[in-house]
Amino acid sequence: MRDRTFVSSLGEHVGRSVTLYGWVQRARPSGKVAFLMIRDGTGMCQCVLERNEATADFFDLAKKLPQESSIRITGRVKADERAIGGVELHEVTACEVLGGSDDFPITPKPHGIDFLFKHRHLWFRSQRQHAILRIRATLVDAIRQFFNGRGFVLIDTPIFAPAVGEGTSTLFEVDYFGEPVYLAQTGQLYVEAACMAHDKVYCFGPTFRAEKSKTRRHLTEFWMVEPEVAFIYLDELLDLAEDFIVSVVQRVLADHRAEIESLGRDVTALADIRRPFVRLKYADAVEILHGSQARDLLERDLVEKKAAVEALTQKIKELEETESSAAKDWQREKAAQEVQAAREERAELEEQIPNIPTHMKLAAGFQWGSDLGGSDETIISRLHDRPVIVSHYPKEVKAFYMRLARDDDRLVENFDMLAPEGYGEIIGGSMREEDYNILLERVKAHHLPVEAFEWYLDLRRYGSVPHGGFGLGVERTLSWICGLKHIRETIPFPRMLGKIYP
Ligand code: 4AD
Repeated sequence: MRDRTFVSSLGEHVGRSVTLYGWVQRARPSGKVAFLMIRDGTGMCQCVLERNEATADFFDLAKKLPQESSIRITGRVKADERAIGGVELHEVTACEVLGGSDDFPITPKPHGIDFLFKHRHLWFRSQRQHAILRIRATLVDAIRQFFNGRGFVLIDTPIFAPAVGEGTSTLFEVDYFGEPVYLAQTGQLYVEAACMAHDKVYCFGPTFRAEKSKTRRHLTEFWMVEPEVAFIYLDELLDLAEDFIVSVVQRVLADHRAEIESLGRDVTALADIRRPFVRLKYADAVEILHGSQARDLLERDLVEKKAAVEALTQKIKELEETESSAAKDWQREKAAQEVQAAREERAELEEQIPNIPTHMKLAAGFQWGSDLGGSDETIISRLHDRPVIVSHYPKEVKAFYMRLARDDDRLVENFDMLAPEGYGEIIGGSMREEDYNILLERVKAHHLPVEAFEWYLDLRRYGSVPHGGFGLGVERTLSWICGLKHIRETIPFPRMLGKIYP
């Protein structure tokens, strides 16, 4: 469209006539004037149409254009401080409908979350979803720039994998010309091979886990970036992970502060993310879970959440009264929307309250040797205002490839990074076992077929070196950055247990 001007650049065209292409967010007639709010993917602009001889043929049509009609509209750009983006389109000389839109399903009225996900392909157009996916795109770019800028080589790893990468319980099996293979749970084993050739490498792609749990942190298909470095020790690997997080968070914040704020997220907590992070060993984490701080936190939670439910119940009652007595449509709609939001918030709290005593029991009774569960991670991360790194887990709960700690072979040299504010694990990583004999024993101890790992063992047969890496989940990181309660809004088309459409 050679004549097209984008809303984002209208500031450069004040006083000139331009043509916009976009979708009608809202059309509002007011006597001989009509206001069209246009959205074009780069921003929103109010267009003001006046009825006169020259505009008569399109004015009557334009003033009642249905939501999401696509149009081409020409007019003069006028600066107006009060307008979104500081400009409006006036003196409209042409307005042409390109694609009609009858009964767009997502209206300004309240909709439940299931309905919105069923219409994910259309829900994309809402301001909030638009913001989240833009922030995601920048996060992905920031990740690539961080590693490219430090001399890491991108290695694309396969999605069809002949053997397990992380754990047998979350494999998706597919039929590969009559042979069972699995969708990649990680590209790690392959980047280990590549780092022996290039020193510093990373892979970045879709990752599959047959997670049967319906939690706010789990997808069955997610994106993971996995750097891998030769000749590195654990503390250096942790330094790299800290630098990485600070760098991507600062970049996303620099580019999207306003959008992140528009999601209701307090950005000061993000702006404060700097090194050093908190570094704990698994044994310290166990102590925290058994301690009074953890208990007090959950007891406080219980009291606060119960009080919040009561306050919401009162608020819903008041809003319902406003809704039924409101004189204007927009007042009724606003009240209805607030009722819906308050009901959802209350339902969520009511779901969480009975879990708190369970989480208290789990934390207090945590046994050395178990893996930290989601609720344990939440407690530890909520007790710190910076990301927390927990290292040196018992080998039984971790993958076969992790390097045994040489001073205590009950433990492995691994780490998980927990995002603050209860967001839980965003990074999992480790040093890799570089000793051929120990690794072979570990493959056998995990009952894995040695033949499938012969190539992987070769890496230890020919010039083995200390090496390690980690994996960061894009969606969990984005949830934290955007302050979202659930991971499902962080990926364009989420795949979860029971969710595969559209
Ligand atoms: O801790 P994980 O399982 O680590 C690995 O896969 C290693 N092979 C990585 C490596 O060392 N190269 O997963 C890493 C991260 C998690 O911290 C989390 O952010 C994300 O991947 N992740 C998930 N994200 C969404 N849904 C799921 N089901 C996820 N499982 C892991």
